Amino acid sequence: MTTHTVTFQPSGQTLEVEEGKALLTAAREAGIYIKSSCGGYATCADCVVKIMQGQDNLNTPPLDETKLIGNVFHITKERLSCQAMVTGPIEVDLSLHDKTTDAVKLNEKTKKNFTPPAKGSVRKRTKEEVAAIHEERHQNFKAKEEKRNSWQRHWEQDKDPTRMPGKGGNRRPKPFVIPEQEPETDKDKE
Ligand code: FES
Repeated sequence: MTTHTVTFQPSGQTLEVEEGKALLTAAREAGIYIKSSCGGYATCADCVVKIMQGQDNLNTPPLDETKLIGNVFHITKERLSCQAMVTGPIEVDLSLHDKTTDAVKLNEKTKKNFTPPAKGSVRKRTKEEVAAIHEERHQNFKAKEEKRNSWQRHWEQDKDPTRMPGKGGNRRPKPFVIPEQEPETDKDKE
């Protein structure tokens, strides 16, 4: 099994990573933090890292990656660590990935999006009340079902011969009546 040395900056930590392994996976296995929200499916772009050395020792960015961060790797030197497979020794900058800062940011974001219910607006129901609500829902459901069934068998119950089952309007079309013509007289023939 071929392995390559990956150096993570600014800590200077080094890892021996198997050929073809994703940077994110290798870092995770070694307990090195790289932010990720999608779990490595190339949809969040949180795992972006800067390649400081050995840019050619990674696979070509796949389509999923270029769709997310563009095809400008040769300028920005940035790669999605979940899509970057190691094929040689590299040096990676992880200064954007700080667990503590990310945890604080996430906490703030969660707090911002969470509105606690106003005091007194939440009322706890008793067991009996919940049971009564369930019973009412069950009755409503049964009533609806009966109604639906009676509608389905409507044609069986309907004795009105002018009604057509299941057709729009429920009425038979009126028969076409040809007006009676008066017999031709000798005067008409002339
Ligand atoms: S982990 Fe989400 S894009 Fe890489």
